Amino acid sequence: MLIVGICGSPKTEYSSTRHLLEAALAAISDGQTKLLNISDYNIQHCTGCDSCVRKKPCPQSVSDDMPMIEKQLIEADAIIIAAPSYFTSVPGVLKDFIDRSRAMKMNDHQLKDKVFGAVSYAGLRYGGQEHVIDALNRYALGQGMIVVGSVGSPVKHGTFGSGSLQKDDGSWRSAKDDELAVQGSRLLGQRVAEVVLRLRSSGEK
Ligand SMILES: Cc1cc2nc3c(=O)[nH]c(=O)nc-3n(C[C@H](O)[C@H](O)[C@H](O)COP(=O)(O)O)c2cc1C
Repeated sequence: MLIVGICGSPKTEYSSTRHLLEAALAAISDGQTKLLNISDYNIQHCTGCDSCVRKKPCPQSVSDDMPMIEKQLIEADAIIIAAPSYFTSVPGVLKDFIDRSRAMKMNDHQLKDKVFGAVSYAGLRYGGQEHVIDALNRYALGQGMIVVGSVGSPVKHGTFGSGSLQKDDGSWRSAKDDELAVQGSRLLGQRVAEVVLRLRSSGEK
């Protein structure tokens, strides 16, 4: 089993979102995990040329890193995308990846049946985390993936990895000290792996 995590933060140094994604991947005991930082890759914008709709090669893929990312995603059994909230949506670098991955959809849904989970982090306590999760989950549905949420304590944990730099009293913390966000991310990673194994044992994968 291979689970690929994509960190959608444009930061090259410490990223809160990456911290949660690492927690999600570290919680997976069976199988291999791989973390891709979207900021490490050169991803050109989608120009809307519709070459992919005509099943022609994407002209942008000739000179950027999208083919390298696509190869790793096609090999994965599951994908977890983690994104910070940027004006309650995903950062532009991640949106570029999302738009360019349309080619995989047009090429017979190459991401179909991969198990998917989402993680989000924001500055503010109510900073748009759920909007980001919603955008990521809808993206995964559009790619034919199987979207799952975590199943932790029904009175303690949410259904995805999510948190904020801002504490309830308005002061600030690091994602490392955001215990519920780390726990939620770990639960999400475990759930994603569990569903992959269930699909495998039922012969679906
Ligand atoms: C351009 C930009 C827009 C942002 N928009 C929001 C926002 O709408 N709500 C919020 O709570 N935080 C917002 N933030 C703060 C980030 O979500 C926050 O710093 C997050 O921890 C960044 O994650 P990272 O360290 O993984 O990059 C924004 C930050 C930037 C740079």
